Amino acid sequence: MADSSYLLGTHTEELERLGFQHQLWLPSAQEAWQRAGITAGARVLDVGAGPGFAAIELARAVGPTGRVLGLELNETYVAAGQAMARSEPLPQLELRQHNLLRDPWPVERFDLAWCRWVAMFLSDLDPLLNGLEQCVRSGGQLLLHEYVHWDTFGLHPCGQAIARFGQACQRSFREAGGDPDVNRRLPSLLAARGWRIEELRPLPVAGNGHAMAGQWMQRFVEVYGVRLQELGLWSSRDTAEAQREIAAAAADPGSFWVGPTVLELRARRN
Ligand SMILES: C[S@@+](CC[C@H](N)C(=O)[O-])C[C@H]1O[C@@H](n2cnc3c(N)ncnc32)[C@H](O)[C@@H]1O
Repeated sequence: MADSSYLLGTHTEELERLGFQHQLWLPSAQEAWQRAGITAGARVLDVGAGPGFAAIELARAVGPTGRVLGLELNETYVAAGQAMARSEPLPQLELRQHNLLRDPWPVERFDLAWCRWVAMFLSDLDPLLNGLEQCVRSGGQLLLHEYVHWDTFGLHPCGQAIARFGQACQRSFREAGGDPDVNRRLPSLLAARGWRIEELRPLPVAGNGHAMAGQWMQRFVEVYGVRLQELGLWSSRDTAEAQREIAAAAADPGSFWVGPTVLELRARRN
């Protein structure tokens, strides 16, 4: 991946898609933050913050006596997040352009590091694991929402093209050096470095085409299908077939989408 480019892109549609995705997943994130005990005054590092949707929520949660630092590869996202954050006073929030794989990690210590849908894109997990060791204080926590089982992605009962789309997505992530099911490996890698695994919680998602979950997946097929075509992993014929399946699903009140399964992982640093 080029220095500031991100496989899924940073165009307006992807920015909007990330915003919608954040709204869908916000209750799960907030429940996880609550389980981790994030309160006013906490110091939180958001690793791979995107346009800062979660970082802004976290900044509200920790209040002016806390601190949230969001590290993000892409300058467009950093600028978009900074612009969004300007609409309310959030002096506790900083969004910083940073390549997790190459740049020196901050010298600051944090109570908690939050990382959602980022490790799956990294071609090397060592810089992430080293950086987390450096930045999370002793006794502090790491909270990850990363996928553990991408094969659950599908449209049922008749989504054959959608099933192929899921496989093409996984292939694109792998070919770019990432691992769609990275959370199969992270607990073991963290335990080997002395982190105590305190929570492993699968977060399944399903819904029909009218539900937020279904709309999220439908939108992903539309937006990422374009990128998959550029990568030669999907065709206009596939797109047409997927559209027919989506239209047929809309006419079947029993049809439903299932998302790739996220695993919540919470670990504590010795
Ligand atoms: C799917 S988005 C998730 C964004 C955010 N964590 C969220 O939950 O909305 C993945 C993010 O990881 C960022 N990313 C990927 N590789 C990175 C790297 N090497 N350094 C920093 N950020 C990276 C991308 O730029 C993108 O913003």
